Amino acid sequence: MATTRYITTPIYYPNAKPHLGSAYTTTLADVLARFCRSAGYNTFFLTGLDEHGEKLQRAAEAKGIHPKAFVDEMATQYLDAWQTLKINYDFFIRTSEEYHKKGVEKIFMLLYDNGDIYKGTYEGYYCVGCERYFTENELVDGKCPYHDKPVEERKIDAYFFRLSKYREKLLSFYEQNPSFLPPNRKQEIINRLEKLNDLCISRPKSQVWWGVELPFDKEHVSYVWVDALFNYATGIGYGRKDEGFKTFWPPDVHFVGKDILWFHAVIWPALLMSCGFELPKRIACHGFITVKEMKMSKSLGNVVDPVEMVKKYGVDALRYFLVVKMSMLRDSDFSEEALKTVYNEEIASNIGNLINRVVVLLNKTNVETETFTPSQQLADQFNSTLKALKDTLDANDPYAVLENRVKEAVALFATLNIYLSEKEPWKQEEEEKQQTLLNAMEGVLIASTLLYPVLIEGMGSFHRMLKTTPTIETLQSFGGNVEMFGWPKQPRCILYPRVD
Ligand code: MSP
Repeated sequence: MATTRYITTPIYYPNAKPHLGSAYTTTLADVLARFCRSAGYNTFFLTGLDEHGEKLQRAAEAKGIHPKAFVDEMATQYLDAWQTLKINYDFFIRTSEEYHKKGVEKIFMLLYDNGDIYKGTYEGYYCVGCERYFTENELVDGKCPYHDKPVEERKIDAYFFRLSKYREKLLSFYEQNPSFLPPNRKQEIINRLEKLNDLCISRPKSQVWWGVELPFDKEHVSYVWVDALFNYATGIGYGRKDEGFKTFWPPDVHFVGKDILWFHAVIWPALLMSCGFELPKRIACHGFITVKEMKMSKSLGNVVDPVEMVKKYGVDALRYFLVVKMSMLRDSDFSEEALKTVYNEEIASNIGNLINRVVVLLNKTNVETETFTPSQQLADQFNSTLKALKDTLDANDPYAVLENRVKEAVALFATLNIYLSEKEPWKQEEEEKQQTLLNAMEGVLIASTLLYPVLIEGMGSFHRMLKTTPTIETLQSFGGNVEMFGWPKQPRCILYPRVD
């Protein structure tokens, strides 16, 4: 079993403050990283900002300030937002920092020395919003398919990466590593490889000066995507702290939205092959958050501020909604109304009330843990959920963790609610009542530990009350936890007050 896990998010363009779409990718990655740490993996979680390129240069120009001053100001908004969302990253990379630029220059020399870079002329349709070229076929009514905005026809002197040379190698890599590509989007990528052109990897400085200069031609800067992709190497120390790179490379899971899958599924491994680096293990790709069926994006003007949502409903509500109620496999609609309902009905009621009920009942009852007889029925479900989660983490399967295992952990609370309603401990004789409460308490301990990576605030304060650290690694199978954890007497435990 590998003992390390290296998990990344895309690095965001800080031309605007983070919205719910960027919060979605980041939260999914954070939850997986927290699961890995909880299960005992030496985990590194990287996120950060993609600060170069024409989009940022133009945004700064529009404000009349230097791009560095602009991104510095925007970076604080991301740092603040991620703090509010309890994103526990190990390093926050910013591509305009010196260490990153040095690393990228080094990489460019590797690509150049390998003979994979040549000079030519590029003609194509450029979308500044995406920071990429489109072919005529990819345009929709002559416009960018993602931004629904006109593209610019451009012809430039540029350097190219011999991407087409890697077609066969990519196909055999996918074949030998069947879990690298997202299962529901694999065929689409393979089909697109039919026509693989070389990649334009530079911009003339006269047009874009805000970027990493090519070490072999100072009149050109790196295409922002090449600069950005290598954040995954410089972020763990490539070219600066080789220890980190040695420990964590290659990445175990790259989280990406479906619009940037091509870059991570095709361009990124080809660049790495050229450099002679080991390739990442998995790409976890998710659909878009939509509002009334339209992609949430700044250019469409329908963004939701995640920080506002946290202020109104709490961080757990937002994290739970993003992870449990949305599906990575397709686009999912968001509405504040739905968030509020989910908070009140699922978090406050099914989870919060249940914990409070158990605490209140226990406060009025003397239980002796030595006499505990675990319910077989509860034990079966709890143990299989725990085992499945551990196995899935061992298998490094982000989809199964986030799509299935998390929902199974939520279902444990539903089971405990049913268990209590059926047993009605308040009507039971003293001895039976003790057993019911011990079983309920054991269940709550396990379920709250399993959901801690999502419900970080509520489950965190619950475990602080118990004076324990909830980790999957230290969790025993059903029946073995009550004694270890102990149970301080509390008159009540209101973790999630209702919001009206
Ligand atoms: N800077 C590049 C990524 C470089 S990674 C080496 C970029 N940045 S971005 O800010 O435009 O988008 C970052 C991520 O946010 C992408 O994964 C994208 O899919 C995601 N999202 C942006 N809007 C989104 C939604 N409405 N819904 C879900 N995710 C979305 O691309």
